[in-house]
Amino acid sequence: MSKKRASSSTPFLVRLDPSASQPLHRQLYEEIRNAILGGLLHPGHPIPASRGLADDLDISRTTVLQAIDQLKAEGYLKSVVGSGTRVADVLPERLTQINGQPRAVSPAATPATLARRGMAITGIQGTELRAGSEPRAFRLGIPGLDLFPRKLWNRLLIQRARLTSVPELDYGDPAGVDPLRRAIASYVASARGVHCTPDQVIVVGGAQQGIASVCRLLLDPGDDAWLEEPGYTSARSALIAASARIVPVPVDAQGIDVAEGIRRAPGARLVYVTPSHQYPLGSTMSLQRRIELLEWAHAANAWVVEDDYDSEFRYGGRPLMALHGLGGSSRVIYLGTFSKSVFPALRIGYLVVPHELAGAFARARMYSDLHPPTLQQLVLADFIQRGHFARHVRRMRKTYELRQNRLVREVREEIPGSLKLRPRNAGLHMVGYLPPDIHDQDVVREALSRGVEVSALSLHYAGSTARNGLLMGFASVDEEGIRRGVLRLRDAIQAARARPSGERVA
Ligand SMILES: Cc1ncc(COP(=O)(O)O)c(C=O)c1O
Repeated sequence: MSKKRASSSTPFLVRLDPSASQPLHRQLYEEIRNAILGGLLHPGHPIPASRGLADDLDISRTTVLQAIDQLKAEGYLKSVVGSGTRVADVLPERLTQINGQPRAVSPAATPATLARRGMAITGIQGTELRAGSEPRAFRLGIPGLDLFPRKLWNRLLIQRARLTSVPELDYGDPAGVDPLRRAIASYVASARGVHCTPDQVIVVGGAQQGIASVCRLLLDPGDDAWLEEPGYTSARSALIAASARIVPVPVDAQGIDVAEGIRRAPGARLVYVTPSHQYPLGSTMSLQRRIELLEWAHAANAWVVEDDYDSEFRYGGRPLMALHGLGGSSRVIYLGTFSKSVFPALRIGYLVVPHELAGAFARARMYSDLHPPTLQQLVLADFIQRGHFARHVRRMRKTYELRQNRLVREVREEIPGSLKLRPRNAGLHMVGYLPPDIHDQDVVREALSRGVEVSALSLHYAGSTARNGLLMGFASVDEEGIRRGVLRLRDAIQAARARPSGERVA
């Protein structure tokens, strides 16, 4: 467990984490340096005596002296005969000036080692990743990995590895390997009505990298971008990282409210949408709204990013073709991922971009990670071309439908009054609405302490008043696991109801 320590002998809070990999003297050095650069410690300000600081922070005096010596060596601190150590009168010039202009330092900008963009990115409140752990009820966004045909996948992997040619060891095409781009082009045409040539397909490191590269190439800092409200927190993060101005646009049963978007930001440069299964609420964008959105995008020269993240999983009703196929191909950037239909650790997704942008997207990949590993791309191409992908998706669709039904049944029986589930005919998660006296973030914490993972709907709102509810993935565990999860969730909800409101953490 990380333990923070604070000192009352400094005019700012010193945070040290003994469990961090960085040595304590380096942490202390950075805390003091950041306070100086952030304007919290002015030139001439006295630094507490090393012994007192060491006692206060519960660290050794040697550690304090190491930090102080380094700061002196770099010109941040100076020794003054008779009055200890003080902040230097003149700070190192390179740290206070940018191109001859004084650096704007705000007291809040303490982690001076990071650029403003770096601070914005690390400050993003997003979904916590629980990397590589056993699946748990009701983790969001995770498919049924227990049923993935691992033996078959490993066989394909070994076959491909044995055949590796010398050119396949070289740098590959930044847009992805040819067999995979062809397999994707043919799959999206037949399954989603997205008609494109293989050179419009750009293989990316998952949907997240796709969104990030769209933002980087098509947005300037300060550009308006519409985001569904509530919406996908990781898309919000990518927009923040690109310094876009996020314009939350409400969604209703028909999807994003285009008229409201136009009212709020008619000249937006980009809109991020999830038309086939709105994330997180689950509605399908109506035809009327699709047409309105495309008309506006054409008129405003805006880009529509269509995230079709879980379209493989529909449990009834006719699947609606993608927005891309609705005559919007010149303004729509279509985004797909294999994270749900194959497995998330694969880190392969794809963009379908207009012809005129294909070269730019491929070139931009050259200046980031170049491409996902060639071997994995080739194995995935084999998996699709030999029919295994279609078979796996068909099987999982049936399984997920059963898992969803089981979750609905268990919640109706066990938590009838407190959680109103909205079953949908698509996707891998559902929303359950809570009564106003039970705060969703309290339930998340109570559930976690009982080994169950749910996500707070309220955290998916960027601007307006949030609704109170839980997002529950039903794909990752079997029906018995779902039953056990519901029983624990029932206890978590009871505990959250009993919690006095003063104990709530916003
Ligand atoms: C809305 C949405 N888009 C995309 C993804 C997939 O992201 P990635 O391909 O980066 O794993 C998810 C996963 O949870 C999602 O919820």
